[in-house]
Amino acid sequence: MIQPSGPLRGTVAVGGAKNDVLPIMAACLLTEETSVIEGVPQVSDVLMMADILRELGVAVELNGPQLTITPGRYSGTTATYDLVSKMRASVCVLGPLLAKQGEAQVSIPGGCVIGPRPIDLHLKGLQALGAAISSEHGYVVAAGLLHGARVHLAGAHGSSVLATGNVMMAATLAEGTTVIEQAACEPEVADLVAFLCAMGARVEGAGTPVIRIDGVRQLHGARHQIIPDRIEAGTLMLAGAVTHGEVVIDGARADHVAALSEKLREAGVEVDVLDGAIRVRAPRRLSAVDVTTLPYPGFPTDLQAPIMALLATAQGVSVLTEKIYPERFMHVAELNRMGASIAREGASAIVKGVPRLSGVPVTAPDLRAAAALVLAALAADHQTELSGLEHLDRGYQHLEEQLRQLGAVLERVEIPSARQAEGVPGWS
Ligand code: EPZ
Repeated sequence: MIQPSGPLRGTVAVGGAKNDVLPIMAACLLTEETSVIEGVPQVSDVLMMADILRELGVAVELNGPQLTITPGRYSGTTATYDLVSKMRASVCVLGPLLAKQGEAQVSIPGGCVIGPRPIDLHLKGLQALGAAISSEHGYVVAAGLLHGARVHLAGAHGSSVLATGNVMMAATLAEGTTVIEQAACEPEVADLVAFLCAMGARVEGAGTPVIRIDGVRQLHGARHQIIPDRIEAGTLMLAGAVTHGEVVIDGARADHVAALSEKLREAGVEVDVLDGAIRVRAPRRLSAVDVTTLPYPGFPTDLQAPIMALLATAQGVSVLTEKIYPERFMHVAELNRMGASIAREGASAIVKGVPRLSGVPVTAPDLRAAAALVLAALAADHQTELSGLEHLDRGYQHLEEQLRQLGAVLERVEIPSARQAEGVPGWS
């Protein structure tokens, strides 16, 4: 049961960013030499990416936060359906495999509960570099020698994080210069550039919409420290706000969470930038604010569900609009079960603040919805039973310990109930 936890207080450290590690693990495929990555969160998405690399013949060792990847003369070129279907991000092995091995077969990633997950921009970019792309029996098949090109990488919903990564990684070994326009500017893309440069790639424009890559003949291994997880930092900031407490998130990068900080201040939360940390204080009931998700540096779509949990009990009406994943509202029904008053209108959710939510059995439908339900439960009027924690474990290594450190009362146990699929872990 997640208990109403009163105002959270104290200091907690933020972990390494899952969405930074995954493409960097794929980038290791660009060389035979060993790379060592530090500060890696032990979350199931990282374990799944390790299995994909092992299936290609790459040696992967995870010792706590240190990941050692030794590709050697690996021969694999196929990422199979059973692994790719579990984690869409595995599509980012396509570019490196194509560049290093001259061919790749990657299962077409299915959609997921947050909406369709097309890869047309990935394929458009790789085709521009000279790859012949076809689809055979549910696999994307790519082959060819790559040459530099000028590529526009934005679709109806703006830039694409992993498409930018895929094309950039492929271009590092292409013959000639590639310019990616409308590239994604997320910190994880900028950090992938830093890793590629440490491997000997020639890449400029990190964090800007125009990235230039001058192809080189080969790359070497590198050591790299993963950046702090801005979504985990934001989730912890929201935990302090929703419980009207005072928390310090150690290691959080203020520039990476600026859009959230601005919205929190607008809602009446005090957000202070300290030396290498961020402090959040929310002494009283908060005011409604409107939020629209956008590519970085706009408000991140991954914090749309978590901030909805905060706004569910804010004073007034908030409108949350999804410009990235218009279907990303699976958490609305669960929050409404807890007594929230939220209505869907197309790509928006209209959140009428209520005084308090009620603790009831709820089930997490996806990763960030799971985080939102944890936040809602912390401030509910009595205990909450949350199931579906396998979603939470994809992206948060130790959210329960972090919250306990701040005074939250929650415990993870098996829930033997008809409501619960057999053996699925839950918090009770
Ligand atoms: C990354 O996914 C993140 N995942 C997502 O985090 C995050 O929500 C997303 O970026 C947006 O910030 C990882 O980094 C592993 P996109 P990605 O390509 O790269 C459309 C989480 O919770 N699009 O930037 O797959 C797409 O449908 C996860 O940690 C195309 O149309 O997202 C979406 O509307 C969820 N064609 C928009 O672009 C394409 O070829 C942005 O998607 C690719 C994407």
